[in-house]
Amino acid sequence: MSAAPAELEAGRAAGPDGAAVRVPWLMYGTAWKEDATADCVSRALDAGFRAIDTANQRKHYHEAGVGEALRAALDGGRVSRDALFVQTKFTFARGQDHRLPYDPRAPIGEQVAQSARRSLAHLGLERLDSLVLHGPAQAVGLTDADWAAWQAMERLVDEGVTRALGVSNVGADQLDELAGLARIRPAFVQNRCYASRGWDARVRKVADRHGVVYQGFSLLTANRRELEAPAVEALAAARGATVPQLVFRFAAALGMLPLTGTTSSEHMREDLAARDLALGEDDVAALLACGR
Ligand SMILES: NC(=O)c1ccc[n+]([C@@H]2O[C@H](COP(=O)([O-])OP(=O)(O)OC[C@H]3O[C@@H](n4cnc5c(N)ncnc54)[C@H](OP(=O)(O)O)[C@@H]3O)[C@@H](O)[C@H]2O)c1
Repeated sequence: MSAAPAELEAGRAAGPDGAAVRVPWLMYGTAWKEDATADCVSRALDAGFRAIDTANQRKHYHEAGVGEALRAALDGGRVSRDALFVQTKFTFARGQDHRLPYDPRAPIGEQVAQSARRSLAHLGLERLDSLVLHGPAQAVGLTDADWAAWQAMERLVDEGVTRALGVSNVGADQLDELAGLARIRPAFVQNRCYASRGWDARVRKVADRHGVVYQGFSLLTANRRELEAPAVEALAAARGATVPQLVFRFAAALGMLPLTGTTSSEHMREDLAARDLALGEDDVAALLACGR
């Protein structure tokens, strides 16, 4: 049986104090919630989520709405800052709409610094737990722009603006190059996780080799066909669980840090309760194979 997921420890090299960054086993994702963002985050905190993912990319995220909920919960004593893990992202201009959080004429390094300062203001925090490069400039390889962004992110670790760094939407070779050459390695990689690619097996393998924690997103929405298979539904039923519960618990058993993007309070509670689901090695093997 796979043991209930403990808090992950990520980023051995992270933080000026050298301390590892602790992350709860399941993260709440705030994309596409627009005006409902603050309400969703507030209910997620009440349900028990302590890890929150956002981005300074107004096109898909409302970071200031996340901040509104965090401030209310912190000021009201419902959560303590130390118990929270707050992650946001720097997004290149091509991934933004007209609501840019920086001057697009500034050098990339300055754009990163401006974006991070705006993130702190939006979130009402003095420091971030993780700052993620939302995606490299191109699909293959790392460019000068990627390195300029990463070096600016490293300076933000030096300055105590963020405790750890991450990278998102990367291929295995890009992660290998970044983790192999960066002065401050990524503590996290965040990718859309397809069952048809062995649940992103190539990237997870490289992440493991470099001690990078893999964050999996769209675990439900990217795998609708696979998760509707009668065998998967039967497996969930046999465990007295829902399919989303099975998937999040399975992801944790693989060593992933899963994200859930639900807007429903019932699903929030359901997803968190998946922690206590007992999964056997056979269950893990069956789910690993379901995308083939
Ligand atoms: N780095 C990137 O480029 C990137 C890209 C995409 C996403 N992300 C992050 O990943 C997060 C999650 O992504 P996602 O929204 O695609 O996630 P998801 O958890 O795969 O999908 C959420 C959808 O599944 C539905 N759902 C049904 N039952 C559910 C259950 N028990 N638990 C959760 N959802 C259930 C939700 O509906 P209900 O609301 O009715 O529950 C919602 O429509 C985002 O919010 C964002 O933070 C990052």
